[in-house]
Amino acid sequence: MNDGRVSLDDADIARLHQVALGLLDPGALPPAEVYVDSEGNEIARYTSGGIDLREPSPWPAPASVRTDAPVVVAVPEQLPVGTLPSADAVLLLPTAGVRVDDARFVTWAHAWRAIASTVIEIPFTPYDALTRAGELVAAYSTADRIDIATVAQPECGGQVVFFTGFSGSGKSTIARTLVTRLVEQRPVTLLDGDVVRTHLSRGLGFSREDRDTNIRRIGWVAAEVAKHGGIAVCAPIAPYDETRRWVRRTVDAAAGAGSFVLVWVSTPLEVCEARDVKGLYARARAGDIRGFTGIDDPYEPPTDADIVIDTSAVTLDEAVDIVLAAIATNSAAGGPE
Ligand code: ADX
Repeated sequence: MNDGRVSLDDADIARLHQVALGLLDPGALPPAEVYVDSEGNEIARYTSGGIDLREPSPWPAPASVRTDAPVVVAVPEQLPVGTLPSADAVLLLPTAGVRVDDARFVTWAHAWRAIASTVIEIPFTPYDALTRAGELVAAYSTADRIDIATVAQPECGGQVVFFTGFSGSGKSTIARTLVTRLVEQRPVTLLDGDVVRTHLSRGLGFSREDRDTNIRRIGWVAAEVAKHGGIAVCAPIAPYDETRRWVRRTVDAAAGAGSFVLVWVSTPLEVCEARDVKGLYARARAGDIRGFTGIDDPYEPPTDADIVIDTSAVTLDEAVDIVLAAIATNSAAGGPE
């Protein structure tokens, strides 16, 4: 046993409450004498009797709920079917680890509360509740029935269209035209590489670290936009695979799986260099600019692009139509797996 203080993240705090309620073995927690939250406030101590919470648990103990009525576990991203198995059915609503400004969760929880007379919040993240639904029903009820809803929650509709490619590949041009086509129907936010660097990322350079910071900022803002049902169109070079994948994960977590669309503008370097709209390739070749993407700095071609567009092979209108079609398919299908 470690005798120090251990700081717990949100998922661990949910587990701490599960242990306190007897829903999880204490071994699932990192060993410590004192548990603190991310701000260093003490939240619990480990004693021989188990977990001693500093404040009473906001979640009712299973024993105080225990019922013989059917129990319904509210499953993530599922809306109620409209009725519950019986009027006295108890609904277990997982509320751990949910961000307070997550509008999708609010809609989802509200729909469940509207049809269930007894709603018991449980210290589980929605996804943990899904994987442990059987156990949960057994803990809270003597009924041998597990019910989950069967209707998929509509996506919030938010999306991120993220262009990546060399400078001069045509990302910004496609992105801007795409925005003019979308803006009449939907709230759209354009996060163009050069523009972001004069505001959100002002002062950052082009080292790997600075480029990563730039892309993570863009990704974070885009995820916020998508979370609230908007469309964010981003057009940075984003040369690193790992960072682009981070953005995909962040957006998918905020706005639903499949809400991130990666468009690789694969226009070959020779074409971008021949265009040299800003004269930067010539300066990079002359050695005036160091670490220029494609010349003496890497670009990792995506292996997970949802769309690949080579602007030396298609017109601008064709490129925009391809992206628009992909966005429409994505929203209609609720996103690919
Ligand atoms: S990223 O790598 O962080 O994604 P970003 O898209 O923001 O790059 O900025 C790229 C733009 O910055 C280019 O279109 C170009 O105009 C300018 N630029 C200036 N220096 C460099 C450099 N060393 N490498 C790439 N682009 C550069």
